[in-house]
Amino acid sequence: MGGGTGTVAKSIADAFPHMKCTVLDLPHVVADLKGSKNLEYVAGNMFEAVPAADAIFLKWILHDWSDEECVKILERCKEAITREGKKSKVIIVDMTVENKNTDKESGETQLFFDMLMMVMATGKERNDKEWAKLFSDAGFSHYKITPCLGLRSLIEVYP
Ligand SMILES: C[S@@+](CC[C@H](N)C(=O)[O-])C[C@H]1O[C@@H](n2cnc3c(N)ncnc32)[C@H](O)[C@@H]1O
Repeated sequence: MGGGTGTVAKSIADAFPHMKCTVLDLPHVVADLKGSKNLEYVAGNMFEAVPAADAIFLKWILHDWSDEECVKILERCKEAITREGKKSKVIIVDMTVENKNTDKESGETQLFFDMLMMVMATGKERNDKEWAKLFSDAGFSHYKITPCLGLRSLIEVYP
């Protein structure tokens, strides 16, 4: 979701040919993009509706948005992964600030990003507690944060 021109989705679709991948992004972003056998582009608005899915991947999305906006996005995600009797997860790649696994330089870069998000967008970088509140406010039951991607963490969220 918010997958842009689909660089990551293309790699996933190529690596797992049995998997059907969908990139949802704004109409002007996906208008001229061509899918493949197991990759399709869908024009839409993640605040309004998200197609049903077994899993939803959000990379560099939620830090752009305020808490209220994130809760709306996450609520749409929850609807999409629980529709049609499905019960899967949302996979987020984003920063978790104040985590102990981060070295000094990465920590400073994260704080720089925090300021950037506040100035350029309505968002911010979040610590574990702030992420937990978003997930709970959006109606998810549990989550797991794995700080394994340098500046960023892998966050799995379950309905
Ligand atoms: C910071 S970019 C991240 C792109 C990609 N996930 C990545 O990691 O490179 C945010 C993406 O969200 C998309 N986006 C913004 N508002 C959206 C909306 N309301 N519905 C769907 N996509 C949206 C933008 O068009 C853009 O592709």
